[in-house]
Amino acid sequence: MRFLSYLLLLPAAVEASFKAVTSKYDSENAIRIKEHAVGNKICESERASYSGWADIGSRHIFYWFHESKKAGKDTPVMLWLQGGPGGASTTGALAENGPCLITADGTSERNPFSWTEEYHMVYIDQPVGAGFSYVDNHHDITAYHNFTETASLDIIAFIKLFQEGFPELATSPLTIAGESYGGRYVPIIGATILDYNSLVPKESRIPLNSLIIINGWTSPPYQAPGIYDVGCYDYKGQPPFFSPEECELMARSLDQINGLLNACSSSGDSLMCTTAGKLFNEFIMDPMQGKHQNMYDRRMVCPEPGRCYPNFRAIVSWLNSDEVLQDYFEVPEQTNGIKLSVSLENDTVRDAMTRSGDMWKDTAPFVEKILQHSSSDIAMASQLGVDMLFMAGNMDVTCGPHGMQRFLDEAKWKYRPEFRNAPWEELRWPNKKRSEYDRVKRTKGLWLVDIAEAGHVAPMDQPSPTWNIIKLWLAERTQKKARIGDTVHEHSNPMSFSSIINVNKTRNQE
Ligand SMILES: *[C@@H]1O[C@H](CO)[C@@H](O)[C@H](O)[C@H]1NC(C)=O
Ligand SMILES: *[C@@H]1O[C@H](CO)[C@@H](O)[C@H](O)[C@H]1NC(C)=O
Ligand SMILES: *[C@@H]1O[C@H](CO)[C@@H](O)[C@H](O)[C@H]1NC(C)=O
Repeated sequence: MRFLSYLLLLPAAVEASFKAVTSKYDSENAIRIKEHAVGNKICESERASYSGWADIGSRHIFYWFHESKKAGKDTPVMLWLQGGPGGASTTGALAENGPCLITADGTSERNPFSWTEEYHMVYIDQPVGAGFSYVDNHHDITAYHNFTETASLDIIAFIKLFQEGFPELATSPLTIAGESYGGRYVPIIGATILDYNSLVPKESRIPLNSLIIINGWTSPPYQAPGIYDVGCYDYKGQPPFFSPEECELMARSLDQINGLLNACSSSGDSLMCTTAGKLFNEFIMDPMQGKHQNMYDRRMVCPEPGRCYPNFRAIVSWLNSDEVLQDYFEVPEQTNGIKLSVSLENDTVRDAMTRSGDMWKDTAPFVEKILQHSSSDIAMASQLGVDMLFMAGNMDVTCGPHGMQRFLDEAKWKYRPEFRNAPWEELRWPNKKRSEYDRVKRTKGLWLVDIAEAGHVAPMDQPSPTWNIIKLWLAERTQKKARIGDTVHEHSNPMSFSSIINVNKTRNQE
């Protein structure tokens, strides 16, 4: 039926597979929903998934929502944002934590560590233009976002539309997770939601209660020197990543780079930011990118610089196949022919966000804002806090745990002394096969996790430990902090610190 109508280009085909829900609050906005039933051969899963677009005026945000195996009123919802800027979030679903994964040979397989075990997972392509998202006037460069601050308003609009499309999930606790450039997206979206929630009536608040950042690019002034620290010395049993000559040049340029990065952050001036970026690229990024050794995982040597992950290429081919692009997601028809293919990372979006200097601005102030809010007496008494989990594979030269600790130790908030002095605690999972333990440094509402033997794409590199960490985080949080009016739901398989934590704590030991 769909095949025939596609050939004849009957608009009826669109009506047949997609349901559109127009917003009660704004008739310009709607959400289009297509259900993919259980048992479909494309991306086999134990539960249904839904895909479509949230129409925000002329901007259209693509999402792919995988239902949790744990259906229930309290089942939390997680939004997943790929980095880039301009990355397609479907790759996170298909390579990292969704129910079905695409292997390097292009076949689909079940993921035994799917995060849908506990969460409803919603993968969204943003800023608009990334992945299958599009704008009506797509040739107009000004139609694309050039700052995360403005792009984050689309996420609020998306969440509101998603709640209208899936009203049964409107009050479920919400987590927003992001990787890499998500280190900038997630705190800004979180802080924007706090502002939004402070302005709207109680019943309209977005039930955000946690943020997760994986190998994130959050604070250039702290993370850039962090790259030097881990890249120019032996680190975790690995030899230096950079050559002595590169390190020498880097060491001499770091003060100047940092001066510009700080000026970029304090002034917000785009020229200052892009000038900082130019120097960063010259002395840090270019040497890092030009190697056969993988900057995202220093243990790996790649056949060509930048071509290290064959499964990512398989995913792009899979997404662009007729079966998936046309028949499953119905992209060409639904986007009026604007999107005829997808790339891992969209250049238009990336260029818009890079030219503005967005990439070089410090996101630490947004992290501080969230931590300050969540540790305030009012938020703590009424359990309105938003907890933050930072985690990172420690073989990543670009955005590893060392750089994250540098800015988290300095973040200005109530529990800064506690966090700075918190020891690294080893996480002793059962059936450990790796030579090193994952470690956590934590205080109220803030965790930093160092994942052993993992690179930049930590959930793909170490699927079982990363999923264990997320489950532990969820279990700890649900025990301590149910939202008002909710009943604390018992986990069928509770995981608690006491059973896996090592009593032999090491204080700030790298
Ligand atoms: C990026 O997105 C724009 C707008 O949707 C599109 O025109 C362009 O072809 C995309 N670029 C890539 C490399 O996919
Ligand atoms: C950001 O985009 C807006 C709208 O296109 C444009 O007016 C502005 O100049 C851009 N800013 C920068 C710094 O690129
Ligand atoms: C505690 O850890 C340190 C450093 O790894 C080690 O030298 C020491 O033997 C450990 N102590 C115990 C009681 O396990």
